[in-house]
Amino acid sequence: MESSERQLRAQMRFFHDLVRKLAAQGDPYAKVLSAPDNPYPAYEEIRARGRIYRSPLGTWVTTDHELANQVLRDRRFGVRKADGEKVPEFMNFDNSMLGLDPPHHTRLRRMTMPTLNPRIVERWRGRAEKICHRLIDDIMAKGDRFDLMTAFAHHLPTAVIGDLVGIPEEDREHFHHLSREIVPLLDGVVTYEKARSVDAAIAGMTELFTRIVEQRRVEPREDMISRMLPLVDEGSLSMDELLPLCMFLPLAGTETTVNLIGNGILALLRHPEQWRMVAENPDLAESVVNETLRHDPPVQTYRRIAHEPVELGGVVLPADGELAIVAAGANRDPQVFPDPARFDITRVSRNDTLAFSAGIHYCLGAPLARFEAEVAYRTLISRMPGLRQAGPVRRRGSFIIRGLREFPLSAT
Ligand code: HEM
Repeated sequence: MESSERQLRAQMRFFHDLVRKLAAQGDPYAKVLSAPDNPYPAYEEIRARGRIYRSPLGTWVTTDHELANQVLRDRRFGVRKADGEKVPEFMNFDNSMLGLDPPHHTRLRRMTMPTLNPRIVERWRGRAEKICHRLIDDIMAKGDRFDLMTAFAHHLPTAVIGDLVGIPEEDREHFHHLSREIVPLLDGVVTYEKARSVDAAIAGMTELFTRIVEQRRVEPREDMISRMLPLVDEGSLSMDELLPLCMFLPLAGTETTVNLIGNGILALLRHPEQWRMVAENPDLAESVVNETLRHDPPVQTYRRIAHEPVELGGVVLPADGELAIVAAGANRDPQVFPDPARFDITRVSRNDTLAFSAGIHYCLGAPLARFEAEVAYRTLISRMPGLRQAGPVRRRGSFIIRGLREFPLSAT
């Protein structure tokens, strides 16, 4: 084994052991990093330590809505350290928008915006409805019991994003397989073995998209790759930028939306009176989207790096200091959302949640994710009004992406 590999393996083991030890000693941020099934008590422990708290791991942490909002809009914060280094345990891709600061970020974001423009996205509604009905037909044809995640939730975002980006039907299964291998990257702290299989899957993705890009060059269609290829030809976008974008969008758009669908249905089934309200008035599906994004968001936390010393909430973050913004905690800030732990689709709030972040990295796929989840809730509730849980759920064990791995249901 190469000595650098041995070193990396040892570093990862050291980090895991440290997190376990500090969690046992009561550090709430270490508890969060251990990805408990229910992280919300740890978020409240962080809140109890003040607007901003420094974990013995060295990271500053906040669950304060106002402070988080302020940081996300403050140009003195970015996502990279001065030497370009990024923090490995966070959702990150080299050259993807999420891992870049301006001006590079601004350019890539601008080029991607037309693909995810809300008006273009709205055109997919009919297709999304058809997909949902077809999935439910398939489920019903097979019997009463099914797993929401594998039989339903995964398929909608995968199909929509596949069309949007331009992944040919015949490559979708291969793409899906490679995506599953890359997912640990979104799931936070990875083991050495996982890091290696992620590398192999990224190489596989690069090969796949290189081929698709060549196909689209010969035969352009109505998709993102075809729309971006002229930018490559005129020299304003490089292939080294286009390929990570092709890989990142489907991943960012699938693993998150899948869990918005799952988390919302779980919350509704745990609150049958609210399920009935939506069954009687399907227009409330939009409120289910909003309240799920607040109460149990698929992306729980992200981070920023101070580019210079910044005074914040009574402490000074040094240059390169790292701040974890616990969006799921900020979404339950009692200063902003009264009775925050209660799931309530009738909640009226003037404040935005941080489920899609804020400022320059605000999620570009937010309109798409919202309408996909809305269509999914509407269709499920109207076609299966008697839906109920048919066994224990299994969570996916990540401190970043919150969602279910297994969600057994019975249609009647
Ligand atoms: C419920 C579903 C989704 C959630 C909760 C979500 C959440 C987020 C969050 C929190 C960020 C910003 C992280 C940060 O500030 O560091 C983000 C960025 C991003 N998301 Fe989403 N997302 C979702 C769906 C989607 C979809 C469907 C797409 C695309 C098809 C997408 C594309 C992106 C992109 C491109 C960025 C990077 C924006 C930038 O860096 O400027 N997301 N998302």
